[in-house]
Amino acid sequence: MHPTGKSPPVENALNGSKELTFEDVKNELYNRHHPSLTSLDIEVHAKTIHKIRTLKKKHDVVMLGHNYMEPLVFGLSEKEEQGDSLGLSMFAAKTEAPYLIFNGVPFMAETAKILSPDKTVLVADKTAGCSLADNFGAEDVRKLKELYPGAPVMIYVNSYADAKAESDICCTSANAAHIAKTMPGDTIIFVPDIFFAQNLEEELKGEKNVVYPGKDNTARGAVCEVHERFTLSDLLAIRESFEIPKGHSKRKLYAHWECRPNVLKEADFYGSTSQIMKDIAARVADDQLERAFVASECELTSNLAQEFPKVEFWTACSVRCSHMAKVRLDKIANILEAIDSGEDLNEYEVTLDPEVINKARLPIERMLEASV
Ligand code: 13P
Ligand code: SF4
Repeated sequence: MHPTGKSPPVENALNGSKELTFEDVKNELYNRHHPSLTSLDIEVHAKTIHKIRTLKKKHDVVMLGHNYMEPLVFGLSEKEEQGDSLGLSMFAAKTEAPYLIFNGVPFMAETAKILSPDKTVLVADKTAGCSLADNFGAEDVRKLKELYPGAPVMIYVNSYADAKAESDICCTSANAAHIAKTMPGDTIIFVPDIFFAQNLEEELKGEKNVVYPGKDNTARGAVCEVHERFTLSDLLAIRESFEIPKGHSKRKLYAHWECRPNVLKEADFYGSTSQIMKDIAARVADDQLERAFVASECELTSNLAQEFPKVEFWTACSVRCSHMAKVRLDKIANILEAIDSGEDLNEYEVTLDPEVINKARLPIERMLEASV
């Protein structure tokens, strides 16, 4: 409850032309985050959030927010600025704003830079990595192409621009199965995520032969260090203790594509972060969901719990991506203050060699064309 004892109606001042006051921001935070965040949490962060939102508006900054952002950071982005890797790439491709702050990890911001090379693309922490992108590079793609000459290389978006530049088509977890089916020939090379490749292999059984690092070869691949942590026995224990039996009509277990194959098989639904959110939204709209567990990064569940308060989510899970967690309110405020004072933006700006941009754009544009 707001300290005044009442919850004042909130107009989203950010969308209107009126000046955004500190009280507006505080009221909005109470309405949106209380009681999952305490009054103290809100009081402590309201000043920084007011500064961010005021400067965001003043400088016409687009602020993209990945679904894994903690709720206070996620809430800085307008609904249409929030999403999964595919949705955010699509938004980046069409935005006109001069500054784009990407609240996510740098490989995601690189995609935005490739699609909008004239824009200033900024991230809160350039050192934030990703166990998939960090452990696989352009040289690894070239080696696989030598091993399977002629087979098209499909590269998961969780990779850096130089590796994408060596590949034929990009994909995200929202469109991988669809894109694989559109590829010529009966064999595709999928990189770098080994679990994802195995899941895709299962999904495309009888349609496509999927080759990947470590399958009949000694090539180097990678796995997501976050999704790797969910095991089949964890899921079975959650089904039992949280009472989500298989086949229950209103209790569901969700998993992200990056999970281990036996975890994906156990799930009632699997997809990208936004596909999981959409399935939950559709079930809630039909009054068909009372309880859920999501085998993915835990802030996705925090955001879902906030959006769908009537669903009981297992929020005790603390599987957090340490890279995504580097994106914090204070760092975002620093970027906006640097824009406002005309300071050098080097510390935050994502830059790429123009030649790499040109080569990496093709696989990303092919993906966008092939996406449904
Ligand atoms: P999405 O494409 O589903 O947003 O996932 C990105 C990611 O990094 C998952 O760990
Ligand atoms: Fe990379 Fe996994 Fe973190 Fe996603 S959750 S950014 S795949 S390490």
